[in-house]
Amino acid sequence: MNQISRQILFSRNEIQKRVQELAGQISKDYAGRELVIIGILKGAFIFMADLVRDISVPCKIDFARLASYGSGSESSGKVVMTKDIETSIKGRDILIVEDIIDTGLTLQYLIDWLKERNPHSLKICVFLDKRKRRKVSFEADYVGFTIDDGFVVGYGLDFNEQYRFFPDVYVIDTN
Ligand code: PRP
Repeated sequence: MNQISRQILFSRNEIQKRVQELAGQISKDYAGRELVIIGILKGAFIFMADLVRDISVPCKIDFARLASYGSGSESSGKVVMTKDIETSIKGRDILIVEDIIDTGLTLQYLIDWLKERNPHSLKICVFLDKRKRRKVSFEADYVGFTIDDGFVVGYGLDFNEQYRFFPDVYVIDTN
């Protein structure tokens, strides 16, 4: 793992501060309500774990597993759901938590899927927003950081299933 060429993008301290800010905003926006928070596996697992511990409104937790299959740094563009949520969301306030939006295809797929179940509201919280490669017009409601093109790993994000465990976020050279 020391052999990859990597440059730090966000340190664990910067991340912690920003996650606390997001959690504060979410807690304020949903004051007096109960949230159902849906994390998208696998990438969101660390961000979600940190976020929910800083959110002060009650919340239920669930996960969906979506993957745009392909390997390396390029997504295939075809989204597949391999694990559905297990919670009833009809009439509930839903917050989807995702590690990164890139083309937007993964979130678009999940939103269309969830909307058919008639939630009361549906919002998106994303740790990283990579806007340049968007294929569907799409804005998240809560964004940790906006980033340029470049392959990022750490804090849940992988390259070929490696490096998810890095506590900081790095840009790596995939060539
Ligand atoms: C990554 C990431 C997002 C998605 C974003 O998932 O976690 O879910 O790609 O890309 P998009 O906006 O272009 O759809 P990936 O398929 O790599 O699975 P993972 O979460 O298990 O790493």
